[in-house]
Amino acid sequence: MTTLITNIKELLQVRETSVSKVSGAEMAILPTIKNAYLLIKGNLIADFGSMENLPILKADTIIDATGKIVLPTWCDSHTHIVYAGNREQEFVDRINGLTYEEIANRGGGILNSAKKLNESSEEEIYLQSKERLEDVIRLGTGALEIKSGYGLSLNGELKILRVIKQLSKQYPITIKATFLGAHAIPLEYKENRKGYIDLIIDEMLPEIAKNQLADYIDVFCETGYFTVAETEQIMEAGIRFGLKPKIHVNQFNSIGGVQAAIKYNALSVDHLEVMKTEDIIALKNTDTMPVALPSCSYFLSIPYTPAREMIAAGLPIALATDYNPGSTPSGNMNFVVATACIKMKMTPEEAINAATINGAYAMGLSDTHGSITIGKKANLIITKSIPSYYQLPYAFGSNLIDTVMLEGQNIT
Ligand code: NIG
Ligand code: FE
Repeated sequence: MTTLITNIKELLQVRETSVSKVSGAEMAILPTIKNAYLLIKGNLIADFGSMENLPILKADTIIDATGKIVLPTWCDSHTHIVYAGNREQEFVDRINGLTYEEIANRGGGILNSAKKLNESSEEEIYLQSKERLEDVIRLGTGALEIKSGYGLSLNGELKILRVIKQLSKQYPITIKATFLGAHAIPLEYKENRKGYIDLIIDEMLPEIAKNQLADYIDVFCETGYFTVAETEQIMEAGIRFGLKPKIHVNQFNSIGGVQAAIKYNALSVDHLEVMKTEDIIALKNTDTMPVALPSCSYFLSIPYTPAREMIAAGLPIALATDYNPGSTPSGNMNFVVATACIKMKMTPEEAINAATINGAYAMGLSDTHGSITIGKKANLIITKSIPSYYQLPYAFGSNLIDTVMLEGQNIT
């Protein structure tokens, strides 16, 4: 099965196979081809170039993309989309003056979601989560990472990870699973933190590894959640079971989590709303991708990750949604890209790099996703007819997507 897309107004993010991420000044450059064609064979990108050099070839399907822009689908490297119910009431409570921290301290927050999840059947959680997955695919996401972390019990965590596996079997989107047992200390362990950490290390991890239910390990390293020492202990255990760390750090406080994650060669450090100079310096020349989650900053009214300072220091940045019921009930990468430009002063080129190739890197998928490269998955966004790719962040809130294609097949 071959598909040829012709007359593409501009083909974005055209890269050599060897590019796995872009850092610092390179983030400002988005390689493109104007008036382009793209050839798909099966589920892969087979060829592309300028229309002037279009070879004579036969294709089963021809798509005329006159006036339209084509780019790789978004790579959302940080979500928690497998959850039960919602936290609308907490949203209204915050409007009425309570803080995220106050809500968490009175048993709301992550513990509220954990209660709902443990009371729901696996089937019910699957049905709710698949709606969210279908929604983000329609919004142009072609690869995503999903974390557990709303179980906080052996059965609850396994339930979430099995649902993630099921979603990845049923849908043509690439999914990576992250075990986030260390998301919060459950109520019954409030006076026995060590007991819960032992449960994670001695019972959850072996079971998860045995059933190959996760690719990565995560910890919410934050005041009131897990200390740096506990984070290190859990990362170390995860690594023993073959899970590379991807860590929640610096959402509300800078307590040394960035340095700890780097020490354990984390694939990514995520959130980074509160960054000290030493955190930025620590990330220089490492393989750890800094991941910013601007929709979370927007929804909770907390600071945005200081992207300009980080890029000036030569760091790469990836952008992700953080889709979850408490801090970011949205999985819209288009909004993330726009918000990164509007609020974090990233340029459109930087934001698109951050939401594609760098997002792919932050979930170990740079070889197959995140750019228009021969041999990579034919996962594409074809926009409506628009003046230029600047429209993507500029016309924030508008749906500019005409077609989403995953593995060479039209989804929308
Ligand atoms: O990434 N920060 C920790 N975890 C989630 C929010 C969890 C929740 O409120 O349910 C986040 O923002
Ligand atoms: Fe998160």
